Amino acid sequence: MEWSVGVGKAAATAADLLVVAVPEGRSGPDFSGLESLDRACDGGLGALADGRVFAGRKETSALLPGRGCAAPWLLLAGLGRPGDLTLERLRRCAGTAAVQARRLKARRCVLLLADDALGGLDPQAVARAWVEGTELALGAVERLRGAPAGGTGNRRSPVADEEADAAFLPDAWQLVEPGRRRVAALARGLAEGRAYAAGCLFARRLVNLPPNVLTPSRLADEARVLARAQGYACRVLGPAGIAKLGMGGLLGVARGSRQEPRLILLESPPAPAVGRRRRPPLVALVGKGLTFDSGGLSLKAAARMEQMKDDMGGAAAVLGAALIVARLQLPVRLLVVIPAAENLPGGDALRPGDVITMASGRTVEVMNTDAEGRLVLGDALHHACGARPDWLIDAATLTGACAVALGEQFAGLMGSDARLLAVLDRAGGDTSEKVWPLPLIEEHRRSLRSDVADCKNLGPRDGSALTAGAFLSFFVDEAIPWAHIDMAGPVWTDTTGPLGPKGATGYGARLLARAVQLLVS
Ligand code: BES
Ligand code: MN
Ligand code: ZN
Repeated sequence: MEWSVGVGKAAATAADLLVVAVPEGRSGPDFSGLESLDRACDGGLGALADGRVFAGRKETSALLPGRGCAAPWLLLAGLGRPGDLTLERLRRCAGTAAVQARRLKARRCVLLLADDALGGLDPQAVARAWVEGTELALGAVERLRGAPAGGTGNRRSPVADEEADAAFLPDAWQLVEPGRRRVAALARGLAEGRAYAAGCLFARRLVNLPPNVLTPSRLADEARVLARAQGYACRVLGPAGIAKLGMGGLLGVARGSRQEPRLILLESPPAPAVGRRRRPPLVALVGKGLTFDSGGLSLKAAARMEQMKDDMGGAAAVLGAALIVARLQLPVRLLVVIPAAENLPGGDALRPGDVITMASGRTVEVMNTDAEGRLVLGDALHHACGARPDWLIDAATLTGACAVALGEQFAGLMGSDARLLAVLDRAGGDTSEKVWPLPLIEEHRRSLRSDVADCKNLGPRDGSALTAGAFLSFFVDEAIPWAHIDMAGPVWTDTTGPLGPKGATGYGARLLARAVQLLVS
């Protein structure tokens, strides 16, 4: 989809569809900022003012013939009450309108986001949110359908018809402004919104892929392609390289699978020395990359085990964030570390009772092979600390307990640095990829004491999201500000909404990129 800003009269702009954002008024839609449009439409808007047909409620729309407009159709997109207008509200309204535009098969869409309708929200943020909402709503899910069944040749199934409709994308969106005043800010917002949406959709695509397709080596291939396109240096280590680093956690978890593990590393190219300017800060992002988690010998129950293909959601999030950070050209150096493996109960699998030695030298008694995320992350976090980052953030689908406690809307947030936690909280507000604080305390670390090793990988049953985070803290240098995001809940949704279909949400990519943006601005 192409996005642009134009100056002129929206109603006079040639298009297949004119989309107009309309707030809810006291007794109906509020057209007060749209008098000239109303005149251009022969008073068609005024006729709706009593609110019986269209009230401007959030995430609703009304389609009218574009009488008097250059476009044959006019779509009114409700924004809800002005006092409740937020960036997330805008995203969802944009998504709702975008789905209608697709239904109409509108190729060229003109968009009027009148200043008055948006109650003083920052125009750059408005444009960013509208693009995000549109692109996230229309982002297609890849299907792996084979040839149609039965011998009758090319008769298409209803499913195929539905999918063909859903595959339609409007080619071009033009934001039309009456004057030049806001054009530059809006154009910046459009570019930002496209970057944010691209990162989120990238993450969704990876998480949705089936686990026989997205193996650790395929994940590494995807990272390589992304790195090349966005100007990162990429290094991928296989079992030998991983062994050289002494990563007993990552190697141990991978042992029960025929799929070899990978350690995937992305790094910003060294910044050119410009005068005496300080080097940009280094942010390290670590993402859990379990391409499938059966639990290993501590096998999971069969029910919903297929869901465990999303156990690489953290890896997808940090890669998506790297994409966004590169597209925004933020003044930051990024280091991405992804421990990628598959957790299966093969003949050489890790056993409960095994003692392994991690890259840091710490020994771990494996009590439960399903608590594997912390083993691969312990090695990855230790590795990231070796680069002395200014900030260190890990994202992981780490515990079912966190999903049970916080649900789909919130990831759990733990860490060692109040400023970093505050930035992530604010970033979550901005992107609506929300986080909720969980405690990180000495008692939980103590509950991981082992009789035979330096620690064990399992605490008491209760509070297992908290002991998982405490376990990770063993592998983080205390001097490095660190935050841990447990995104087991929000990585996936079973409900289709205005910002995308059920399935992978792409959670974390926008959150992490926004946090980086806040850290360096
Ligand atoms: N990948 C799972 C966590 C998970 C569970 C993510 C459900 C998304 C939905 C993780 O590796 C795991 O299995 N954790 C165990 C830990 C337990 C053995 C202490 C869990 O949460 O049950
Ligand atoms: Mn597990
Ligand atoms: Zn897992």
